[in-house]
Amino acid sequence: MRRFIIIGHKASTTADFKLDDLAGGAGRLDVLLRCINSAFFLSHDLRKDVEVLLILQGPPGPPKSIRLVGSELRYLNPDERSTGALIRNALMKEARSEERSSPGIYISGRNLQDTLGLLEETELIYLKESGEDIRNAQLAENVTFVLSDHMDLTDEEESMVLLKAPKTLKLGPISYHADHCITIVNNELDRRFL
Ligand SMILES: C[S@@+](CC[C@H](N)C(=O)[O-])C[C@H]1O[C@@H](n2cnc3c(N)ncnc32)[C@H](O)[C@@H]1O
Repeated sequence: MRRFIIIGHKASTTADFKLDDLAGGAGRLDVLLRCINSAFFLSHDLRKDVEVLLILQGPPGPPKSIRLVGSELRYLNPDERSTGALIRNALMKEARSEERSSPGIYISGRNLQDTLGLLEETELIYLKESGEDIRNAQLAENVTFVLSDHMDLTDEEESMVLLKAPKTLKLGPISYHADHCITIVNNELDRRFL
């Protein structure tokens, strides 16, 4: 299982946004939707062994966590607008503990700390531009990556992640978009394990 935890620092925690304004009123939800695409989509197929956890921290009611499970997903299409609609439907639920919104999509009120606390039997990797090169790192097949959206993790978030003693790895010499990082990681794991 490959798991990606992505922090959406400004991402909307209400369904009250327009699908035409994913990069604005929805608090850069477009970044997270592209991460979903990169995590799951293959050419004419979907990765079943992937889970994505989005931690939404924007107004008005943070945190909200959306969990997408590759082996259960239905109705996921490669365009950002329709995935935005699935996330918006999930945000219509008043979920504190986890509830299913549609096949393979769950919503809860979990924050980053709760999410990290629930990880079991998985290697944790913090993706950071200043880490060690992933090409020199041993990776497990069962692995969880933490990355940020268009902003860096705050010091507090980074401390929470570091408490779990992750490997801190970089994917190359420059800073990439979050969705591109997921594509690179998927490719790296495909080369090692498929
Ligand atoms: C667009 S970057 C973050 C924004 C950028 N650091 C800034 O404030 O200008 C999104 C996230 O992707 C991951 N990332 C980007 N480039 C990376 C690299 N070369 N190696 C590892 N992770 C990277 C990090 O988790 C980063 O927080």
